[in-house]
Amino acid sequence: MPISVRPLHDLFVGEVGGIDLTRPLAPEDVAAIEAAIAEHAVLVFRDQRVTDEQQLRFSRYFGELEETRGTGISKPGEQRLHPAFADVSNLDKDNTVLARDNRRRLYSLGNMSWHSDSSFKPIPAAYSLLSGRVVVDRGGETEFADMRAAHDALDDETKAEIADLICEHSLIFSRESLGFDDLTEAERATMRPVRQVLTRTHPISGRKSIYLASHIGEIIGWPVPEARAFIRDLTEHATQRQFVYAHKWRPFDLVMWDNRCTMHRARRYDATKVRDMRRTTVAGAAPTVAQEAIAAE
Ligand code: OGA
Ligand code: MN
Repeated sequence: MPISVRPLHDLFVGEVGGIDLTRPLAPEDVAAIEAAIAEHAVLVFRDQRVTDEQQLRFSRYFGELEETRGTGISKPGEQRLHPAFADVSNLDKDNTVLARDNRRRLYSLGNMSWHSDSSFKPIPAAYSLLSGRVVVDRGGETEFADMRAAHDALDDETKAEIADLICEHSLIFSRESLGFDDLTEAERATMRPVRQVLTRTHPISGRKSIYLASHIGEIIGWPVPEARAFIRDLTEHATQRQFVYAHKWRPFDLVMWDNRCTMHRARRYDATKVRDMRRTTVAGAAPTVAQEAIAAE
């Protein structure tokens, strides 16, 4: 049976039916999903009771996976999941809910600021696939913003102004903006800023988008306060309600999104409730801009 796609929003997001992600897929199904995500940017697959192995297999159809080792603040041996998973849960290795003041929890609250996954890496992510194994029934939505529509809605002067701008992205900036600044020197060393273009053209759809994230701390060649004020304005523009879809999680939803043309954020939820979300991330193909100037430091 061919897959079906039902729009969930006026601009983007499709709910995909007629597919079972617990089983291996035929090449034509993979091609149909690739075509659907190039159009809709976010795909929702309902009731997919995947194991970690099945999630890995499905994710690998779309390219090589990123590993989470060496990014963020998690230490070897502390991880609950296979290294190709980003553990987006609020659980420790023993599946116990993290305490309110737990350092990893506070660090992960960075996901509540609008971002694009791995924009702080020299080669940023293409797709993310997030599986809701245990979801909360109040709050905890994931919101997505269509950065293609946000780009299209800019006036021509602003489009021209941002066409060639380059930004610096770092986990240090997104964490500092929430007041999380007790990073060690060793952690900071893994979070050195990388450069990304501010206007991206999608390799498949050809559409332009604004490449924003809370990880941005600078625009190359601009005074810092002016850069941050402008990035804040662009973010406010791009996250107006008409560009946003809020995903209300049901158990075993799997949501796949294209980080090259969307931003997302988690919404608040009761920190005492279990929320077990597991993300796999398909690596991007190439840097968005040359990195030499920074890599040499
Ligand atoms: C992510 C992420 C948001 C959420 O998995 O990359 O930002 O709602 N998740 O957990
Ligand atoms: Mn994310």
